[in-house]
Amino acid sequence: MVPNCYMASRTISGLLGFLLYFIYFDLVFSGTVQKEGSTCTVRASTDASDDAPAILQAFEMCGTDGAIQLHDPLYHIESVMNTTGLSNVQIDLTGTMLWGTNLTYWRSSGLPLDYLNATIAWVIGGDQVQFEGHGVGTFDGNGQLWYILANGVSNFPGRPINLVIANSTNSTYSGIRFVQSQYWTMVVKNSQDILLENIYVNSTSNSSVPARNTDGVNTFFSDKITFKNWTVTNGDDCIALKANSSNILIQDAVFHGGLGVAIGSIGQLNGVFEFIQNVTAERVLAIKSRYAGYVKTWTGVQQGFPPNGESVSLLAPIEL
Ligand SMILES: *[C@@H]1O[C@H](CO)[C@@H](O)[C@H](O)[C@H]1NC(C)=O
Ligand SMILES: *[C@@H]1O[C@H](CO)[C@@H](O)[C@H](O)[C@H]1NC(C)=O
Ligand SMILES: *[C@@H]1O[C@H](CO)[C@@H](O)[C@H](O)[C@H]1NC(C)=O
Ligand SMILES: *[C@@H]1O[C@H](CO)[C@@H](O)[C@H](O)[C@H]1NC(C)=O
Ligand SMILES: *[C@@H]1O[C@H](CO)[C@@H](O)[C@H](O)[C@H]1NC(C)=O
Ligand SMILES: *[C@@H]1O[C@H](CO)[C@@H](O)[C@H](O)[C@H]1NC(C)=O
Ligand SMILES: *[C@@H]1O[C@H](CO)[C@@H](O)[C@H](O)[C@H]1NC(C)=O
Ligand SMILES: *[C@@H]1O[C@H](CO)[C@@H](O)[C@H](O)[C@H]1NC(C)=O
Ligand SMILES: *[C@@H]1O[C@H](CO)[C@@H](O)[C@H](O)[C@H]1NC(C)=O
Ligand SMILES: *[C@@H]1O[C@H](CO)[C@@H](O)[C@H](O)[C@H]1NC(C)=O
Repeated sequence: MVPNCYMASRTISGLLGFLLYFIYFDLVFSGTVQKEGSTCTVRASTDASDDAPAILQAFEMCGTDGAIQLHDPLYHIESVMNTTGLSNVQIDLTGTMLWGTNLTYWRSSGLPLDYLNATIAWVIGGDQVQFEGHGVGTFDGNGQLWYILANGVSNFPGRPINLVIANSTNSTYSGIRFVQSQYWTMVVKNSQDILLENIYVNSTSNSSVPARNTDGVNTFFSDKITFKNWTVTNGDDCIALKANSSNILIQDAVFHGGLGVAIGSIGQLNGVFEFIQNVTAERVLAIKSRYAGYVKTWTGVQQGFPPNGESVSLLAPIEL
């Protein structure tokens, strides 16, 4: 009976090995999407490979009258994302999205902002987009490498803006954390009726190079944009309102360092008319910031081409 038992146990262990082999290969997978009804859940890769293709697929499958769930602890983003044209979608992020460190890739592949020569890592847009981070969902731009590369140069070419909210209406972004942004954290462009509330931004260099030009947010060509309960720690403008921004409301913000609320700059492009109209900022606490608020305009004397140092004309900051 002994040999039979031996045979049986060998067969069982062989079977186990066979099963483990498949389980193992099943565990090492790239990002995938599980769709249930109109809800798409993105499962992160287990080998740290790019999760952007799966996220893009989820937006494609569930970006209209649906929901997108990003509930794994870590998503690796190694390529640009364009998720525009959404409609009535709920996005739920409880994990961290970590942007990749191939700076060569990002510098050559950023999507165009079509303004001030800036580029984008992720552009999102649509009507009735509800993006909820529950106070924990995090965008980590891996910015330290960018701060070292730029070495204090303000408009170092090809540093991407982490999130651009474009072509959007009636949308809310809430409870999201943004740390170590590559460049400007966010832009709101060509949008109306957008609320961004309970937002935490912290871009802090861990060395002597500054986290330069890590603005919290910039608005362009946008109307009725509300910023509520923002906490911003950074090395530049905390909240900045630029070309053709109107009816902007900022409430209950806390700034640590940085330059506070910037109105501008405007008038940077030679011969182009720009306006900023009806801005309210109330209950803003600026701790060790250079300004609480200031206005940035240009004098009209051409000095070169934007966006870099030798810009169109001289900067003339007026402190409030
Ligand atoms: C994003 O994709 C839309 C639709 O294809 C396109 O119209 C838009 O130009 C793209 N945006 C960027 C910044 O590439
Ligand atoms: C980084 O990106 C560049 C440009 O896309 C590519 O040629 C290169 O292979 C990438 N490097 C790594 C380590 O993936
Ligand atoms: C615009 O950006 C590109 C690439 O990001 C860069 O090569 C170019 O020098 C920039 N142009 C100006 C005027 O800064
Ligand atoms: C916004 O929509 C316009 C028109 O469809 C398109 O040309 C532009 O590229 C879009 N902007 C972004 C940032 O995707
Ligand atoms: C936002 O929704 C409200 C209520 O439905 C509507 O009145 C308003 O026109 C919408 N705004 C935009 C820019 O579509
Ligand atoms: C304000 O936002 C912070 C996150 O930065 C959050 O912890 C806090 O609960 C929010 N406050 C209110 C009143 O919602
Ligand atoms: C910002 O981040 C730095 C470095 O991680 C940390 O020391 C600091 O406490 C943070 N600031 C706030 C206001 O959370
Ligand atoms: C600063 O951050 C970079 C990138 O995350 C890391 O490699 C480095 O070890 C950190 N340096 C210190 C002094 O913490
Ligand atoms: C100015 O903006 C506020 C929101 O901050 C809005 O309530 C008000 O109606 C706007 N005023 C005008 C004249 O449009
Ligand atoms: C800002 O709006 C004005 C008035 O509508 C327009 O003439 C101007 O071209 C816009 N500016 C830009 C930079 O598009």
